[in-house]
Amino acid sequence: MSVTSDADINSFQTYLQSCRGILALIGAGLSQASGIPPFRGLNCENWNGYDASDLCTPEAFCEDPLLVWQFHAFCRQRALKSNPNGGHIALAKLASIWEKDMLTVTQNFDGLSERAGHPQEYLVDMHGNLFNLRCTNVQCNFRKIDFDPNLGTSEVPKCPKCSALLRPAVVWFGELVPYNHIVATNEAIETNRVDLVLCIGISAEVWPAAGYISEVVKRGGKVAVFNPDSGTKVKCDWFFKGGAEQWLPIALNNI
Ligand code: APR
Repeated sequence: MSVTSDADINSFQTYLQSCRGILALIGAGLSQASGIPPFRGLNCENWNGYDASDLCTPEAFCEDPLLVWQFHAFCRQRALKSNPNGGHIALAKLASIWEKDMLTVTQNFDGLSERAGHPQEYLVDMHGNLFNLRCTNVQCNFRKIDFDPNLGTSEVPKCPKCSALLRPAVVWFGELVPYNHIVATNEAIETNRVDLVLCIGISAEVWPAAGYISEVVKRGGKVAVFNPDSGTKVKCDWFFKGGAEQWLPIALNNI
């Protein structure tokens, strides 16, 4: 159902209030409204003539670590200059006041949900976070959270423990999502604690997030989509056609 009237918004809000649990899936579309382009499709990221998706792979880092490091430094600075939008803020507010179960899974590594005040304990950074680092040596467990974002970009930093190169703690194309993130999300779904999934700025083409929607539906849950593209592949019960930055503050108002 395309949401076109107050009655549609009321039916969504009535259902939401009756829910035991909510799963919110955030994708690149939400940050697009904050000025951060997606990595694929229309208006996608292009940095110094490079396609972002070509720079976000372990192979690219292996071939030219400095180039990949500099691209991520650029993304980091841009994220810092961007602000969370009304959608990030409305969702963060819901997560702060919601007294039943809620989990937000974001595919974005720009830290905007955190900066909007989303409680960390209900937030899964499925694709990592640009502001964290980890060692490339698989036998070394060095991690740094919230490192200085102004760290120089003329060389790739080295691990203080083992001297191997450090890298952004994000999930690149072709890499596996951290196991603990999968477990946390599966657990929420498998224990039947999700009656509603909010699909916010996602194309639902990227797994595992895409699979979560069908799992929730299989278990009797409902789906609300926030997306300007009516060609989106997600089948839903409520379709808020337009920017999530505009619709979320309306849909989640007075909850
Ligand atoms: N509000 C809501 N949705 C929007 C907006 C907006 N203002 N602007 C664009 N969109 C929608 C697009 O119509 C599209 O359906 O956001 C979706 C973005 O789709 P993708 O770029 O495929 O993003 P996502 O589903 O997050 O998957 C991308 O792959 O690019 C990599 O690692 C990157 O995590 C990211 C994943």
